[in-house]
Amino acid sequence: GRRIILDVDTGTDDAVAIMFAALHPDLDLIGITTVNGNVPLENTVDNTLRVVDWIGRPDIPVFAGLSRPVARRGFPGGRHFERDTDQDPHGSELPIPAPHSKVRDTGAVEYLVETLRSTTERITLVPVGPLSNIATALAIDPSLTEAVDELVVMGGGHGVTNVTASAEFNVWADPEAAAIVLSAGFDRLTLVTLDATHQALITLEDCDALEKLATPAGIAAARIIRRRIDAYATAMTTEHAAPVHDVLCTAYLVRPEIVTTRHLPVAVDTTSSLTIGRTVIDTRLDTPQEPNAHIAFSADARMLSELLTSTFALDART
Ligand code: BDR
Ligand code: CA
Repeated sequence: GRRIILDVDTGTDDAVAIMFAALHPDLDLIGITTVNGNVPLENTVDNTLRVVDWIGRPDIPVFAGLSRPVARRGFPGGRHFERDTDQDPHGSELPIPAPHSKVRDTGAVEYLVETLRSTTERITLVPVGPLSNIATALAIDPSLTEAVDELVVMGGGHGVTNVTASAEFNVWADPEAAAIVLSAGFDRLTLVTLDATHQALITLEDCDALEKLATPAGIAAARIIRRRIDAYATAMTTEHAAPVHDVLCTAYLVRPEIVTTRHLPVAVDTTSSLTIGRTVIDTRLDTPQEPNAHIAFSADARMLSELLTSTFALDART
């Protein structure tokens, strides 16, 4: 299958993306790098190890990355909900057992640099958290972009924001890192925004179907997404449903038609206060700017739901 590295801040939707990438036959998840974001680094590491153990893939190596943003101190600050309350779509610990596996000794950035330098075939890099690890790897070796056939980022928003009125969390949590990555010159950069993820909502009925699969991934996905639906209740116009942002990136890899993209210029605000972390997407037909990302603004919810139930019917323990 297509060789991919996931960079995660696990987090509930990261967990669903990891299970999808680990189980889908068209993907070969060769490693997972973790970063500070939804929860502190030690929790993103622990949660990621919980996921690979739970689905029977402890062979997938997990690496610990940056515990804070590359430049800004104090980011990510407080979210607009209290940690571990029912408004928190993540929570410090995933609702699956503590891991047995251990994080690797090699750091995440070292792993990215060594792997991308030594690979003979290009790798698809899929960051679904703040971009601190990716930006740091590029600072060490800007030519790493040549080893990446496609960078698929969950981040940004145009008509939809979440962590502030202006910004999406992954970009806001480390805006300088996002600016570095968006301007690094990857051959193909696909940006899956909140505009897209909010059109691919997963419902309570979908959770019932996932639970009925009675597989580790089906059971965990149902439990995890129900937690997200509860937490999103006050934020969504659609009842009993929630976006599962990160898994849309891995679903896109196996079914690109699940999103529609436009090749446009995008830049990140790293200087303001009101709009810090905003992805400024230039939709002007006569823009003088060069396009630097294939940006997904919409997605197919039914396709995502069907992909989750077919993929999570698989059991890696056998
Ligand atoms: C992004 O922020 C995190 O809360 C999710 O894991 C996702 O990666 C959505 O804005
Ligand atoms: Ca994430």
